[in-house]
Amino acid sequence: MSFSIERYKEESRKVDVTGIRWDEVTAHPLSKGDLFCLHYMMDIENHVPLYLSHLLVTRACMDPILTAFLACWNYEELWHGENIGRLLNLYGIEFDTQERIANVRANLGFQNSVSILSTMAGSWMLKDFSAVYLSIGAINELSTLTGYSALIRKSGHPVLKDLLSRIIKDERRHYAFYFNSAKEWLSGNSKAQKLDRWMLDRVWVPVGQGVKTQEEVDALAVYLFDDEQGEEELLELDGKIGKLPGLAGIKLMSKALYAARERVKRNPRWAWRLIENEEWAVKPPKKSPVGELTTRRSQGVEAEPVEAGTP
Ligand SMILES: [Fe+2]
Ligand SMILES: [Fe+2]
Repeated sequence: MSFSIERYKEESRKVDVTGIRWDEVTAHPLSKGDLFCLHYMMDIENHVPLYLSHLLVTRACMDPILTAFLACWNYEELWHGENIGRLLNLYGIEFDTQERIANVRANLGFQNSVSILSTMAGSWMLKDFSAVYLSIGAINELSTLTGYSALIRKSGHPVLKDLLSRIIKDERRHYAFYFNSAKEWLSGNSKAQKLDRWMLDRVWVPVGQGVKTQEEVDALAVYLFDDEQGEEELLELDGKIGKLPGLAGIKLMSKALYAARERVKRNPRWAWRLIENEEWAVKPPKKSPVGELTTRRSQGVEAEPVEAGTP
């Protein structure tokens, strides 16, 4: 699995959706579970700029190769979220994408600022912070593409399959970058390996957790992976991450699935009730109305015309 940053910079572009049969989206049904996963995935794709805001305050960004990658990566992820939203809208689920994104962000509140500050402080205190961040990047990209493959399989929806297969190609490139960069950082660096292992075993959470609740994360896990093939895919995923120096035998995604299963065992309604009750809408934030946070969402404010030459 090779990766060339020069080639990536040249070739990075928004996912090509030419020829996708958007007009056939409603011709095939999507289950409640499919729709639940699609909303989750769209929200997390759309959350990338905020995730990026955490990274840009860390010492990892001293590396110009990394920042070049992030510049292209962020743009590609934007179009993943846009196109999943488009498919949902065409399926007949009405929402305004910008409003939904703003609501997700506003709901994070104070916790988001604390998280940025602690990531920043942690990165400047830990010389090998980049190793952890790059490993997490590899896990996130690999779990994303594994999740998309599982959703293709579960839904059997041909238009969704076409769209997600194209997105998966981007995710594979992202995974290749993170995996190779993590490997480079960890090779021959036992201090970095120890830190990486320690952090992944204790601090790592599945992609989307934090933006989504534990129960929402579990709902996605049990819907997509709680069968023989799903479990096998997650064990395979862990096996691939375990090839990074110092991470042999690590259990991450499979551990998350087993923990989700335990919670469902204790309460059989857990996770499934979110899917059954179609709880994929994002509630508007209780505090910090979106209008105040973005200004552009304010009702009844006419944009002032700007004349050329006005300072
Ligand atoms: Fe993506
Ligand atoms: Fe990605």
